[in-house]
Amino acid sequence: MTLDVGRIDPALVPQRQLPGGGRMPGIGLGTFGSDHAPADLVAAAVGTALEMGYRHVDCASVYRNEAEIGAVLETAIRGGIARDELWVTSKLWNDKHAVADVAPSFERSLRDLRLDYLDLYLVHWPFPNTHEPGVDVGSRDSNAKPYLHDRYMETWGELEKLVEGGLVRYIGTSNMTVPKLRLLLRDARVRPAANEMELHPHFQQPELFEFVVGEGIVPIGYSPIGSPARPERDRTPEDSVDIEDPVIVAAAERLGVHPAVVCVKWAIQRGQVPIPFSTRPSNLLANLRASVSEPLTEAEMAAIAGIDRNCRLIKGQVFMWKAGQSWEDLWDPSGEITPP
Ligand SMILES: NC(=O)c1ccc[n+]([C@@H]2O[C@H](COP(=O)([O-])OP(=O)(O)OC[C@H]3O[C@@H](n4cnc5c(N)ncnc54)[C@H](OP(=O)(O)O)[C@@H]3O)[C@@H](O)[C@H]2O)c1
Repeated sequence: MTLDVGRIDPALVPQRQLPGGGRMPGIGLGTFGSDHAPADLVAAAVGTALEMGYRHVDCASVYRNEAEIGAVLETAIRGGIARDELWVTSKLWNDKHAVADVAPSFERSLRDLRLDYLDLYLVHWPFPNTHEPGVDVGSRDSNAKPYLHDRYMETWGELEKLVEGGLVRYIGTSNMTVPKLRLLLRDARVRPAANEMELHPHFQQPELFEFVVGEGIVPIGYSPIGSPARPERDRTPEDSVDIEDPVIVAAAERLGVHPAVVCVKWAIQRGQVPIPFSTRPSNLLANLRASVSEPLTEAEMAAIAGIDRNCRLIKGQVFMWKAGQSWEDLWDPSGEITPP
Protein backbone atom coordinates (compact mmCIF):
# COMPACT_ATOMS: atom_id res chain seq x y z
CA MET A 1 0.00 0.00 0.00
CA THR A 2 1.31 3.43 -0.86
CA LEU A 3 0.26 6.14 1.53
CA ASP A 4 -0.29 9.67 0.37
CA VAL A 5 2.10 11.05 2.94
CA GLY A 6 4.18 13.59 1.05
CA ARG A 7 7.78 13.04 0.09
CA ILE A 8 11.17 14.73 0.35
CA ASP A 9 13.82 13.82 -2.23
CA PRO A 10 16.49 11.97 -0.18
CA ALA A 11 19.16 13.51 -2.42
CA LEU A 12 18.33 16.92 -0.92
CA VAL A 13 18.79 15.80 2.70
CA PRO A 14 22.20 16.88 4.08
CA GLN A 15 24.81 14.12 4.43
CA ARG A 16 27.73 13.74 6.85
CA GLN A 17 31.04 12.57 5.43
CA LEU A 18 32.79 9.66 7.11
CA PRO A 19 36.32 8.32 6.76
CA GLY A 20 36.63 6.02 3.76
CA GLY A 21 33.97 7.84 1.77
CA GLY A 22 30.83 6.84 3.69
CA ARG A 23 27.95 9.30 3.83
CA MET A 24 25.48 9.28 6.70
CA PRO A 25 22.09 10.94 6.03
CA GLY A 26 22.00 14.01 8.27
CA ILE A 27 18.69 13.06 9.94
CA GLY A 28 17.57 9.60 11.00
CA LEU A 29 14.46 8.00 12.45
CA GLY A 30 14.58 6.88 16.08
CA THR A 31 12.89 3.54 16.84
CA PHE A 32 12.78 3.34 20.64
CA GLY A 33 9.09 3.05 21.51
CA SER A 34 9.81 4.29 25.07
CA ASP A 35 8.16 1.14 26.50
CA HIS A 36 4.74 2.21 25.15
CA ALA A 37 4.76 2.23 21.31
CA PRO A 38 4.45 -1.44 20.26
CA ALA A 39 6.85 -3.00 17.76
CA ASP A 40 4.37 -3.16 14.88
CA LEU A 41 3.51 0.52 15.26
CA VAL A 42 7.18 1.52 15.22
CA ALA A 43 7.83 -0.75 12.22
CA ALA A 44 4.89 0.81 10.36
CA ALA A 45 6.39 4.23 11.09
CA VAL A 46 9.69 3.06 9.58
CA GLY A 47 7.82 2.01 6.42
CA THR A 48 6.03 5.34 6.20
CA ALA A 49 9.28 7.20 6.84
CA LEU A 50 11.10 5.33 4.04
CA GLU A 51 8.29 6.21 1.63
CA MET A 52 8.68 9.84 2.66
CA GLY A 53 12.40 9.89 1.94
CA TYR A 54 14.06 8.95 5.24
CA ARG A 55 17.14 6.84 4.55
CA HIS A 56 18.60 6.50 8.06
CA VAL A 57 17.11 4.30 10.79
CA ASP A 58 18.45 4.10 14.36
CA CYS A 59 17.76 0.63 15.78
CA ALA A 60 18.87 -1.37 18.82
CA SER A 61 18.34 -4.92 19.99
CA VAL A 62 17.01 -3.67 23.34
CA TYR A 63 14.15 -1.85 21.58
CA ARG A 64 12.72 -5.33 20.88
CA ASN A 65 11.40 -4.40 17.46
CA GLU A 66 14.23 -5.23 15.08
CA ALA A 67 12.43 -8.26 13.61
CA GLU A 68 9.35 -6.16 12.78
CA ILE A 69 11.54 -3.37 11.37
CA GLY A 70 13.51 -5.95 9.37
CA ALA A 71 10.38 -7.08 7.55
CA VAL A 72 9.75 -3.46 6.58
CA LEU A 73 13.34 -2.93 5.43
CA GLU A 74 13.16 -6.06 3.29
CA THR A 75 9.97 -4.84 1.63
CA ALA A 76 11.49 -1.42 1.02
CA ILE A 77 14.62 -2.91 -0.58
CA ARG A 78 12.53 -5.27 -2.73
CA GLY A 79 10.41 -2.27 -3.64
CA GLY A 80 13.39 -0.46 -5.13
CA ILE A 81 15.33 1.37 -2.41
CA ALA A 82 18.95 0.39 -3.01
CA ARG A 83 20.65 -1.07 0.07
CA ASP A 84 23.51 1.40 -0.30
CA GLU A 85 21.07 4.32 -0.12
CA LEU A 86 20.06 3.19 3.37
CA TRP A 87 21.89 3.81 6.63
CA VAL A 88 20.98 1.29 9.33
CA THR A 89 22.44 1.49 12.82
CA SER A 90 22.06 -1.10 15.58
CA LYS A 91 23.50 -1.37 19.08
CA LEU A 92 24.98 -4.01 21.34
CA TRP A 93 22.97 -4.21 24.55
CA ASN A 94 24.62 -4.09 27.95
CA ASP A 95 24.19 -7.77 28.77
CA LYS A 96 26.15 -8.81 25.66
CA HIS A 97 29.52 -7.17 26.35
CA ALA A 98 31.27 -10.49 27.05
CA VAL A 99 33.62 -11.45 24.22
CA ALA A 100 31.68 -14.62 23.43
CA ASP A 101 28.36 -12.75 23.23
CA VAL A 102 29.21 -9.89 20.85
CA ALA A 103 29.22 -11.69 17.49
CA PRO A 104 26.06 -13.76 18.22
CA SER A 105 24.20 -10.63 19.36
CA PHE A 106 25.33 -8.71 16.28
CA GLU A 107 24.31 -11.62 14.04
CA ARG A 108 20.89 -11.74 15.68
CA SER A 109 20.37 -8.04 14.91
CA LEU A 110 21.57 -8.56 11.34
CA ARG A 111 19.20 -11.50 10.89
CA ASP A 112 16.27 -9.71 12.52
CA LEU A 113 16.87 -6.64 10.36
CA ARG A 114 17.12 -8.96 7.29
CA LEU A 115 20.33 -7.35 6.10
CA ASP A 116 23.71 -8.73 5.14
CA TYR A 117 25.66 -5.85 6.64
CA LEU A 118 25.03 -2.92 8.97
CA ASP A 119 26.22 0.62 8.39
CA LEU A 120 26.96 1.31 12.04
CA TYR A 121 27.12 -0.81 15.18
CA LEU A 122 27.37 0.93 18.54
CA VAL A 123 28.15 -0.15 22.07
CA HIS A 124 24.87 1.12 23.54
CA TRP A 125 26.24 2.00 27.01
CA PRO A 126 29.77 1.79 28.41
CA PHE A 127 28.47 -0.22 31.40
CA PRO A 128 27.66 -3.95 31.22
CA ASN A 129 24.61 -3.31 33.42
CA THR A 130 21.10 -4.03 32.28
CA HIS A 131 17.44 -3.80 33.24
CA GLU A 132 14.16 -5.37 32.24
CA PRO A 133 11.84 -3.34 30.00
CA GLY A 134 9.45 -1.06 31.86
CA VAL A 135 11.30 -1.10 35.20
CA ASP A 136 11.12 1.86 37.58
CA VAL A 137 13.94 4.21 38.46
CA GLY A 138 14.94 2.32 41.62
CA SER A 139 15.65 -0.93 39.75
CA ARG A 140 19.29 -2.14 39.84
CA ASP A 141 21.20 -4.94 38.14
CA SER A 142 22.48 -7.13 41.00
CA ASN A 143 25.60 -7.87 38.90
CA ALA A 144 26.22 -4.22 38.05
CA LYS A 145 29.84 -3.20 37.34
CA PRO A 146 31.61 0.13 36.96
CA TYR A 147 33.27 1.17 33.71
CA LEU A 148 36.35 -1.02 33.39
CA HIS A 149 38.43 0.07 30.44
CA ASP A 150 40.16 -3.26 29.79
CA ARG A 151 36.79 -4.99 29.62
CA TYR A 152 35.39 -2.30 27.35
CA MET A 153 38.37 -2.79 25.02
CA GLU A 154 37.70 -6.53 24.90
CA THR A 155 34.17 -5.76 23.74
CA TRP A 156 35.48 -3.15 21.31
CA GLY A 157 37.94 -5.69 19.90
CA GLU A 158 34.98 -7.89 18.93
CA LEU A 159 33.37 -4.94 17.12
CA GLU A 160 36.65 -4.33 15.30
CA LYS A 161 36.53 -7.93 14.05
CA LEU A 162 33.05 -7.29 12.64
CA VAL A 163 34.48 -4.39 10.60
CA GLU A 164 37.39 -6.51 9.44
CA GLY A 165 34.95 -9.27 8.44
CA GLY A 166 32.95 -6.86 6.29
CA LEU A 167 29.81 -7.29 8.39
CA VAL A 168 29.59 -3.66 9.47
CA ARG A 169 30.97 -0.55 7.77
CA TYR A 170 31.53 1.57 10.89
CA ILE A 171 31.54 1.08 14.64
CA GLY A 172 30.90 3.62 17.35
CA THR A 173 29.99 4.48 20.89
CA SER A 174 27.03 5.83 22.83
CA ASN A 175 26.58 7.44 26.23
CA MET A 176 30.33 8.05 26.52
CA THR A 177 32.23 10.87 28.21
CA VAL A 178 35.42 12.70 27.20
CA PRO A 179 37.74 10.71 29.50
CA LYS A 180 36.32 7.37 28.36
CA LEU A 181 36.61 8.39 24.70
CA ARG A 182 40.21 9.52 25.20
CA LEU A 183 41.15 6.06 26.42
CA LEU A 184 39.27 4.38 23.60
CA LEU A 185 40.97 6.57 20.98
CA ARG A 186 44.33 5.75 22.55
CA ASP A 187 43.77 2.00 22.41
CA ALA A 188 41.47 1.31 19.43
CA ARG A 189 42.70 -0.26 16.20
CA VAL A 190 39.46 0.83 14.51
CA ARG A 191 38.40 4.30 15.60
CA PRO A 192 34.78 5.06 16.48
CA ALA A 193 33.11 6.77 13.50
CA ALA A 194 30.18 8.10 15.52
CA ASN A 195 29.19 8.80 19.10
CA GLU A 196 25.48 8.74 19.93
CA MET A 197 24.72 11.14 22.77
CA GLU A 198 21.79 13.00 24.26
CA LEU A 199 21.56 16.40 22.55
CA HIS A 200 18.72 18.92 22.58
CA PRO A 201 18.55 22.68 23.19
CA HIS A 202 18.38 22.30 26.98
CA PHE A 203 21.21 19.75 26.96
CA GLN A 204 23.87 20.79 24.48
CA GLN A 205 26.91 19.03 26.04
CA PRO A 206 29.30 21.62 24.53
CA GLU A 207 32.51 20.06 25.84
CA LEU A 208 31.75 16.53 24.66
CA PHE A 209 30.31 17.84 21.39
CA GLU A 210 33.47 19.85 20.62
CA PHE A 211 35.69 16.94 21.57
CA VAL A 212 33.84 14.51 19.32
CA VAL A 213 33.79 16.89 16.34
CA GLY A 214 37.47 17.73 16.89
CA GLU A 215 38.30 14.02 16.65
CA GLY A 216 36.41 13.67 13.36
CA ILE A 217 33.70 11.56 15.02
CA VAL A 218 30.10 12.20 13.91
CA PRO A 219 27.87 13.25 16.82
CA ILE A 220 24.47 11.55 16.57
CA GLY A 221 22.00 13.39 18.79
CA TYR A 222 19.38 11.34 20.58
CA SER A 223 16.18 12.65 22.18
CA PRO A 224 16.52 15.74 19.93
CA ILE A 225 13.05 17.03 20.86
CA GLY A 226 13.61 16.49 24.57
CA SER A 227 11.90 13.09 24.52
CA PRO A 228 8.44 14.27 25.64
CA ALA A 229 7.14 10.67 25.82
CA ARG A 230 10.13 9.12 27.63
CA PRO A 231 9.55 6.38 30.21
CA GLU A 232 8.61 7.33 33.78
CA ARG A 233 11.99 6.09 35.03
CA ASP A 234 13.60 8.89 33.00
CA ARG A 235 11.55 11.75 34.51
CA THR A 236 12.35 13.98 37.47
CA PRO A 237 10.56 17.11 38.70
CA GLU A 238 13.58 19.27 37.76
CA ASP A 239 13.47 18.31 34.06
CA SER A 240 12.79 21.22 31.74
CA VAL A 241 10.77 21.08 28.51
CA ASP A 242 12.63 22.19 25.37
CA ILE A 243 9.51 22.62 23.22
CA GLU A 244 8.06 25.09 25.74
CA ASP A 245 11.15 27.29 25.84
CA PRO A 246 10.22 30.82 24.69
CA VAL A 247 13.25 30.99 22.35
CA ILE A 248 12.18 27.76 20.63
CA VAL A 249 8.53 28.83 20.55
CA ALA A 250 9.43 32.22 19.00
CA ALA A 251 11.40 30.60 16.17
CA ALA A 252 8.55 28.12 15.63
CA GLU A 253 6.05 30.97 15.35
CA ARG A 254 8.23 32.78 12.82
CA LEU A 255 8.49 29.65 10.66
CA GLY A 256 4.91 28.47 11.23
CA VAL A 257 6.05 25.05 12.53
CA HIS A 258 5.79 23.04 15.74
CA PRO A 259 8.59 23.79 18.27
CA ALA A 260 9.79 20.18 17.77
CA VAL A 261 10.77 21.13 14.22
CA VAL A 262 12.91 23.98 15.54
CA CYS A 263 14.78 21.50 17.74
CA VAL A 264 15.46 19.32 14.70
CA LYS A 265 16.60 22.29 12.60
CA TRP A 266 18.89 23.51 15.38
CA ALA A 267 20.48 20.07 15.64
CA ILE A 268 21.21 19.78 11.93
CA GLN A 269 22.53 23.33 11.63
CA ARG A 270 24.76 22.90 14.68
CA GLY A 271 26.34 19.83 13.08
CA GLN A 272 24.88 16.80 14.84
CA VAL A 273 22.68 14.13 13.27
CA PRO A 274 19.32 14.13 15.07
CA ILE A 275 17.29 10.91 15.21
CA PRO A 276 13.80 12.06 16.25
CA PHE A 277 11.19 9.40 17.00
CA SER A 278 7.60 9.60 15.84
CA THR A 279 4.81 7.28 14.84
CA ARG A 280 2.65 10.04 13.31
CA PRO A 281 3.03 10.58 9.55
CA SER A 282 2.55 14.34 9.85
CA ASN A 283 5.32 14.62 12.45
CA LEU A 284 7.62 12.27 10.53
CA LEU A 285 7.25 14.47 7.48
CA ALA A 286 7.64 17.72 9.43
CA ASN A 287 10.91 16.46 10.91
CA LEU A 288 12.33 15.33 7.55
CA ARG A 289 11.23 18.57 5.93
CA ALA A 290 13.09 20.44 8.68
CA SER A 291 16.32 19.24 7.06
CA VAL A 292 15.61 20.87 3.69
CA SER A 293 13.44 23.92 4.44
CA GLU A 294 14.28 27.50 5.46
CA PRO A 295 17.05 27.43 8.07
CA LEU A 296 17.11 29.15 11.44
CA THR A 297 18.75 32.57 11.30
CA GLU A 298 22.14 33.23 12.86
CA ALA A 299 20.36 35.20 15.57
CA GLU A 300 18.05 32.25 16.30
CA MET A 301 21.03 29.86 16.42
CA ALA A 302 22.81 32.21 18.82
CA ALA A 303 19.70 32.55 20.99
CA ILE A 304 19.32 28.75 21.17
CA ALA A 305 23.01 28.41 22.09
CA GLY A 306 22.12 30.58 25.09
CA ILE A 307 19.30 28.39 26.47
CA ASP A 308 21.39 25.36 27.42
CA ARG A 309 20.33 24.29 30.93
CA ASN A 310 22.58 21.26 31.24
CA CYS A 311 19.34 19.31 31.72
CA ARG A 312 20.16 15.66 31.13
CA LEU A 313 16.95 13.66 30.72
CA ILE A 314 18.32 10.13 30.25
CA LYS A 315 20.25 10.01 33.52
CA GLY A 316 20.84 6.27 33.53
CA GLN A 317 20.02 5.62 37.21
CA VAL A 318 19.26 1.96 36.47
CA PHE A 319 22.90 1.46 35.42
CA MET A 320 24.50 2.60 38.70
CA TRP A 321 26.80 -0.05 40.10
CA LYS A 322 26.88 0.48 43.86
CA ALA A 323 24.74 1.77 46.71
CA GLY A 324 24.99 5.40 47.71
CA GLN A 325 25.89 6.65 44.24
CA SER A 326 24.35 9.55 42.42
CA TRP A 327 23.48 9.23 38.75
CA GLU A 328 26.02 11.98 37.96
CA ASP A 329 28.76 9.43 38.74
CA LEU A 330 27.89 7.65 35.49
CA TRP A 331 28.91 10.76 33.55
CA ASP A 332 32.40 11.41 35.00
CA PRO A 333 31.59 14.92 36.27
CA SER A 334 35.15 15.59 37.51
CA GLY A 335 36.58 15.06 34.02
CA GLU A 336 38.18 11.78 35.19
CA ILE A 337 36.54 8.37 34.97
CA THR A 338 34.61 7.88 38.24
CA PRO A 339 36.60 5.33 40.27
CA PRO A 340 35.01 1.91 40.83
N1 LIG B 1 21.73 5.70 22.45
C1 LIG B 1 20.86 5.81 23.44
O1 LIG B 1 21.13 5.45 24.59
C2 LIG B 1 19.50 6.40 23.17
C3 LIG B 1 18.73 6.86 24.24
C4 LIG B 1 17.49 7.41 23.97
C5 LIG B 1 17.04 7.49 22.65
N2 LIG B 1 17.81 7.02 21.63
C6 LIG B 1 17.36 7.09 20.20
O2 LIG B 1 16.91 8.41 19.94
C7 LIG B 1 15.60 8.35 19.40
C8 LIG B 1 14.82 9.63 19.69
O3 LIG B 1 14.76 9.92 21.06
P1 LIG B 1 13.42 9.86 21.90
O4 LIG B 1 12.51 8.87 21.28
O5 LIG B 1 13.82 9.67 23.31
O6 LIG B 1 12.85 11.33 21.85
P2 LIG B 1 12.56 12.53 20.83
O7 LIG B 1 12.85 12.11 19.44
O8 LIG B 1 13.24 13.72 21.38
O9 LIG B 1 11.02 12.76 21.06
C9 LIG B 1 10.05 11.89 20.49
C10 LIG B 1 8.67 12.43 20.86
O10 LIG B 1 8.46 13.69 20.20
C11 LIG B 1 7.22 13.68 19.52
N3 LIG B 1 7.43 14.36 18.21
C12 LIG B 1 8.28 13.95 17.24
N4 LIG B 1 8.22 14.81 16.20
C13 LIG B 1 7.31 15.75 16.50
C14 LIG B 1 6.81 16.88 15.81
N5 LIG B 1 7.26 17.22 14.59
N6 LIG B 1 5.86 17.63 16.43
C15 LIG B 1 5.41 17.30 17.67
N7 LIG B 1 5.85 16.23 18.37
C16 LIG B 1 6.79 15.46 17.79
C17 LIG B 1 6.84 12.24 19.32
O11 LIG B 1 5.46 12.06 19.39
P3 LIG B 1 4.60 11.40 18.18
O12 LIG B 1 5.03 9.97 18.06
O13 LIG B 1 3.22 11.60 18.66
O14 LIG B 1 4.93 12.21 16.95
C18 LIG B 1 7.54 11.53 20.46
O15 LIG B 1 6.69 11.45 21.58
C19 LIG B 1 15.03 7.08 20.03
O16 LIG B 1 13.84 6.64 19.38
C20 LIG B 1 16.20 6.15 19.89
O17 LIG B 1 16.30 5.65 18.56
C21 LIG B 1 19.04 6.49 21.87
